[in-house]
Amino acid sequence: MIELRNFVKNIKPYKPGKPIEEVIKELGLTGEIIKLASNENPLGASPLAIKAMSEKIDDSHLYPDDNCFYLKHRLSEKFGIPTANTIVGSGSVELIELIFKAYVNPGDEVIMSEPSFIMYKIACQIFGGERVAVPLVGHAHDIDAMAQKINSKTKIVILDNPINPTGTIVAKKKMDHFVDAVPPDVILVLDEAYHEYIEDATYPNGLDYLKKHSNIMVLHTFSKIYGLAGLRVGYGFGSEEIVGAMMKVRLPFNVNRIGQIAAGAALGDEDFVKHSRNNNEAGKEFLYNELRSLGLKYTPTFGNFILVDFKRDAKDIFEAAQRKGVITRTVYEYGLPTSLRITIGSPSQNKQLINTLQEFLR
Ligand SMILES: Cc1ncc(COP(=O)(O)O)c(C=O)c1O
Repeated sequence: MIELRNFVKNIKPYKPGKPIEEVIKELGLTGEIIKLASNENPLGASPLAIKAMSEKIDDSHLYPDDNCFYLKHRLSEKFGIPTANTIVGSGSVELIELIFKAYVNPGDEVIMSEPSFIMYKIACQIFGGERVAVPLVGHAHDIDAMAQKINSKTKIVILDNPINPTGTIVAKKKMDHFVDAVPPDVILVLDEAYHEYIEDATYPNGLDYLKKHSNIMVLHTFSKIYGLAGLRVGYGFGSEEIVGAMMKVRLPFNVNRIGQIAAGAALGDEDFVKHSRNNNEAGKEFLYNELRSLGLKYTPTFGNFILVDFKRDAKDIFEAAQRKGVITRTVYEYGLPTSLRITIGSPSQNKQLINTLQEFLR
């Protein structure tokens, strides 16, 4: 056997939600199959993005723009942040990796919640960082405890707001204090993959911290509300220093050509974003009510997914739902064996989900 790098030996590979194609093949299903496993947009992709992509599909033989010039300018117009402070990646997962790749030496400490988005742990392992895991309290980040863990060995503090898989947020007041507590030589990554879904006034906008703090990197994505998960486009804002370091270690042409075009168009698709947000809010209320009447416990969410606790090993219900064509997500790797993380779907998908749960629990 060829020996792996030591750091790589213990990595458990990322386990994505099961693709519909795989479930069809595995179970031989025929009827409608719905995927509520990966927090994709149940309404599909932004129509403006689809139109823009189809108009440019013939150019697919050309390499993409290596510097994402047009998309960075669109982002700059929308968010009022210079392009020199902007980086685009093949999904925000690539940006997470680039931060670790540029900054983490073996033995550097990285503070994160346990559980939080699993890629933080994997990126930390790849580069030999020492993971400092801080347990959630009441399914929320314990940012006081996270702040207390910072020491001279800390290189990065990374947190998702809201958290995948629980959906809770750190409110603005708390975040204001936390941001001030992180020393300027420690990178604070604020992963806001679901921020467009949130209209709550207590939710902090990570971009507001960038002017005063050159150690903050804010990550966003086109995979969620814009419905472009299949195209792999994420983006981040931070100081020229951090963005420059990340640009140094990325591979050329890291963002595909069609993805850049679609993302640029999707940014202007306010109607779709609003429609998706409304669908999510309505779906959330519907599911809360139905889950309550089924006697199931859930964590109120700020994202487009709900963590439901079945108070028993969730494998059986996951498998039973899958046999009925409803793909959800177990969260064993997040240390939550009795829960499923379920994406909020379209109205008909939500009904199908509830019918399936009802049948199983009866
Ligand atoms: C908190 C969080 N960050 C980042 C991502 C990755 O998104 P992307 O598709 O942009 O790589 C996800 C995806 O589920 C997520 O939940």
